[in-house]
Amino acid sequence: MSIEGKITLVTGANSGLGKATTVGLAQMGAHVVMVCRDQVRGEAARQEIIERSGNTHVDLLMADLSSQQSIRQLVNTFRAKHAHLHLLINNAGAVFMRRTLSADAIEMSLAVNHLAPFLLTNLLLDTLKSSAPARIINVGTRIGTSLNLEDLQFEQRPYRGLQAYAQTKLGNILFTYSLAQRLVETGVTVNCVHPGVFKSNLGSNNTDEPFLLKIAGWLGKFILPDADHAAQRILYLAVSPEVATITGQYFGNRKPLQSPSQTYDITTQEQLWEISTALTLVNTSNTMGGSTTTN
Ligand SMILES: NC(=O)c1ccc[n+]([C@@H]2O[C@H](COP(=O)([O-])OP(=O)(O)OC[C@H]3O[C@@H](n4cnc5c(N)ncnc54)[C@H](OP(=O)(O)O)[C@@H]3O)[C@@H](O)[C@H]2O)c1
Repeated sequence: MSIEGKITLVTGANSGLGKATTVGLAQMGAHVVMVCRDQVRGEAARQEIIERSGNTHVDLLMADLSSQQSIRQLVNTFRAKHAHLHLLINNAGAVFMRRTLSADAIEMSLAVNHLAPFLLTNLLLDTLKSSAPARIINVGTRIGTSLNLEDLQFEQRPYRGLQAYAQTKLGNILFTYSLAQRLVETGVTVNCVHPGVFKSNLGSNNTDEPFLLKIAGWLGKFILPDADHAAQRILYLAVSPEVATITGQYFGNRKPLQSPSQTYDITTQEQLWEISTALTLVNTSNTMGGSTTTN
C-alpha cells in the first residue's frame, strides 16, 4: 500500500529496530506515531527522525508497555487524536536476566514481550478494522525453545532470562497465527517477522548481568550489522503490494519461514489466547469478524 499520509504506530520507536523502521516510514511520507516510555529518549529520537526524513508528521506518545493501565491510557490518547490506524508495528521488546514482576504482578518478559502487544492490538482492533486495508506486524525472533503453558511465568521452575525471552517470542508467533484466523475478511492482515540479528540496546537494562554476557553485548556492537538492514524486512511487510493480502505468516527476509512446530498447534494457540485474555482482562469475545470492545 502507499504509506504516504497513512497513520502508523511503532512501539519502542526510540532505539534499534524501532527507530530504524520509524525513519524508513517517515522517509516514505507516513504519519508516524512513536510509542516510547522515556520522554527524553523519545523526544531526542523524534527530532533525529524528523531531521533524517524531512517529515514533520512524527508524533510521540508515552507508555510503559509493562503496565496494562499505561497501555489503556495510550490507546485512549491515540484515539483522541487519530480516527484511523493503518499500520501497527509491535516492536518493543526486552530481555530480563532476573525474574522481575510488573506493576500488574506479571513476570516482566511475558508482560512486555507478549501481553503488551496482545492487549495493545486488541484494544486497537476496531480502529484498524475501520481503517482497512490495514496491517499489523509483530516482531518476533528465530530462537529455539518451547512454550510451557503450565508455567508461563516461571513460578514452578528456575528462571532463565533467555528462555523466558524466547518463550515470549514464540508467543508472538502463536498470537499472530490465532489473530489472523480471527481477522479473516476484515481487511486487516497480521504477520510476524524475524528481523535477523543486529546491533541494538536489547539486554542493556540488565546492569548486573554476568560478565560474559556483558562482553558478548559489547562485542556485538562491533560485529553485528546495524538495525537499518533489519528494518527493511519490516518495511517490506508494511508497504509491499506483494503481501497486501498475505496474513498469518512468519516472515524472514521477504519470504515466509517455517516456525517451530508447536506454533502450528491450534489448541496451543487457543490456550495462549485464553490465558492472555485472562491476564489482560481485555474483551476479545467478538473479535471474529466483528468489533472489539475497548475496555
Ligand atoms: N537485536 C536483535 O538482534 C534482535 C533479533 C531478533 C529480534 N529482535 C526483536 O527486535 C525488537 C526490537 O529490539 P531491538 O533489538 O531494537 O532492541 P532495543 O534497541 O533495546 O529496542 C527496544 C525498544 O523497546 C522499548 N521498550 C522496552 N521495554 C519497554 C517498556 N516497558 N515500555 C515501552 N517500551 C519499552 C525500548 O525502550 P527504551 O529505549 O526506553 O529501553 C526500546 O525503544 C524486539 O522485539 C526484539 O525482541 C531483536
